[in-house]
Amino acid sequence: MDIIPIGPGFAAELRGVTVADVAASDEAYGKVRAAFEEHSVLVFRDQDVTDEAQLAYSRRFGPLEVTKVGSEGFGTNLVILKTLDDNGNIVPEDHRLALRNKANQLWHTDSPFKRLPALASVLSSRIIPGRGGETEFVSTRLAFERLDPVLRKRLENMFAWHDYAYSRGKIAPDLASSAERAALPPQCWRLVWKNPVNGRGALYIASHTYAIEGMEDAAGKMLLAELMAAATAPGLSYVHTWHKGDMVMWDNRATMHRGRPWPANEPRYMVRTTISATAADGLESMRAPPRQAAE
Ligand code: OGA
Ligand code: MN
Repeated sequence: MDIIPIGPGFAAELRGVTVADVAASDEAYGKVRAAFEEHSVLVFRDQDVTDEAQLAYSRRFGPLEVTKVGSEGFGTNLVILKTLDDNGNIVPEDHRLALRNKANQLWHTDSPFKRLPALASVLSSRIIPGRGGETEFVSTRLAFERLDPVLRKRLENMFAWHDYAYSRGKIAPDLASSAERAALPPQCWRLVWKNPVNGRGALYIASHTYAIEGMEDAAGKMLLAELMAAATAPGLSYVHTWHKGDMVMWDNRATMHRGRPWPANEPRYMVRTTISATAADGLESMRAPPRQAAE
C-alpha cells in the first residue's frame, strides 16, 4: 500500500489497496485504519463502488449509523444525497432535497448533533455533474495546533452545544421538521477531541454548533466564529474533485467538510455511510460532566 499526500498537511490517496481488500483482510484494514488516524481524509480511486462494497468497507471501522427513511420509517445504513425525484427529474431549488444539499455546503462535521457522534463518513459519487460539486475538507487538528498554547489549554476544558435544527435554520426556518427536532435534541461535547491513538487534539466545531457551555450567547458565538474562521481560512483546504470510481473517507473528529455548488440543472447523486464513534475512538472523554443540581 502506498500513501500519497494530496492536501495541505493532511489528506492522502491510498494506492495498492482496494475497498474490497479492507472488507476482506485484517491486514489491509489495519494499514488503512492507521492511515486514517494519521491523515484524516483518505481517497480511493478507480474502485468498483457498489452499496454492498461501501457497506462492507465501512462496517470494518465500527457500528454504522441507521437513518430512517420512507413513511414506514424503516432503517438503512445509507444516506443518499441526490437532486432527483422518484421520476428521475431534477427537483426545484426550494425542494427539501436541494435545500439539504445547500445545508451541506456550510462547513461542518457529520453528526455532532446525535446522541452518538460519528467517527467517520464514507462517501462515493454515482452521478457527477459536469462541473462543480466537489467536496472540500479542512483539518481541525491542524487548526487546533496552530492556536497559541494558552488558548489551546482553555479550549481543551470547554464544552459546546450542537443542534441539527440550528444549522438547518440557516438555510430555511423550517428545514428541520418537528419530528427531526424531537428526535435530535441538542448535544453537548468537549470542544477539543483528542485522538487516543496519537494524542493529537482537534477542534470539534461545525455549522451545527451554536453555544459554548457557561458562556454568554454573544461571546460564545463570537469565539465559535473566530475558531471557524481560523480553521477555514483560504489555502488550508483539500478540494476533492469527483471521478467515477472514487470513494472518500474522512475523520469527523479531526476535519470539517462542505459540498461545493454545481449547476442546478445537472443531477448529482452521492451515497454516504457513517460510522458511529465508540469508546475506543475517544468518545468518553468528549462527554460533558453532568450538570450540578441547583442548591
Ligand atoms: C456529506 C456531505 C457533501 C457533498 O455527505 O456528509 O456533507 O459534497 N457531503 O455532498
Ligand atoms: Mn456532511
